[in-house]
Amino acid sequence: MKHLLGIEALTRAEILTLLSEAKNVGAMTRAAKRELLRGSVMVSMFFEPSTRTRLSFETAALQLGCGVTGFSDAQNTSATKGESLEDTVRMCAAYGDALILRHPLLGAAHRAAAVSNVPVINAGDGAGEHPTQTLVDLYTMQQRLGDLDGLRVGLAGDLCNGRTVHSLLLALAKFRNIKVSCFSPTPALALPESQRRHATLHGIDIDDADSLATLAQRVDVLYMTRVQTERISGSEPFDAVAKLEHYVLRAKDLAGAAPNMCVMHPLPRVREIATDVDALPHAAYFEQAGNAVSVRQALLLQLLR
Ligand code: NCD
Repeated sequence: MKHLLGIEALTRAEILTLLSEAKNVGAMTRAAKRELLRGSVMVSMFFEPSTRTRLSFETAALQLGCGVTGFSDAQNTSATKGESLEDTVRMCAAYGDALILRHPLLGAAHRAAAVSNVPVINAGDGAGEHPTQTLVDLYTMQQRLGDLDGLRVGLAGDLCNGRTVHSLLLALAKFRNIKVSCFSPTPALALPESQRRHATLHGIDIDDADSLATLAQRVDVLYMTRVQTERISGSEPFDAVAKLEHYVLRAKDLAGAAPNMCVMHPLPRVREIATDVDALPHAAYFEQAGNAVSVRQALLLQLLR
């Protein structure tokens, strides 16, 4: 693997290897990790806001002894003077050994990879993909539930514009006997037909649920997402959707869920998971965010060593 632009590029076996490497690196001492990428430099290029993705990548690199440079606000770069994405990427590739790119435009990571002589990792390209989040998600599911084959996964929220859902569905299609149930708070946020077709073609049994409580009863993983208002033009009507009662998962909705059912969310959550869920054993979202460091370390090691 030279770049990681989308999850499709990874086979099932490669995904499982990365997850097991993440487990190995997670078990290493800080002292042992510190030597693994000493002398390398990772450049984080964040043209869009990020908390977890950027900080977990940077923490991952720093713990491996890898230096970190970059920007978290494109307003501070020459993009404001009119520099093209390609030229900015060429420069960053001259300074670092790997580029972590988040950008509002779908396809930005592919454009970057076309001009970069060092690995490019897609940390989110508009409504496109977020492959490293998917690796974190799968790792969390494996830690919590064991086997990834045979999982029943509920996808809830903005299934139209949420890139984490898109990458997750592509990844699940690589596993066996997967059942997916969808719930979106309004039809405009439903999973695009092309993605539903792709999932079906790859053997995923996919249907819809009419409420979060119904979904919670029939799945092993309930994957919640927020409305991606920044990606929806004329998003005002969706501000109202975000406040709809039936789109808020509450502790009482989990009454009929299996004891080991886990609630996941790539975060940030806005209102869609009430805080009374946080203390339940089902809540896996903060643990999921914590898992990001080991998973991203496994990836950096694979690309940079
Ligand atoms: C997600 C993203 O940026 O796509 N966040 C993340 O990376 N953990 C999800 C979101 O912003 O809703």
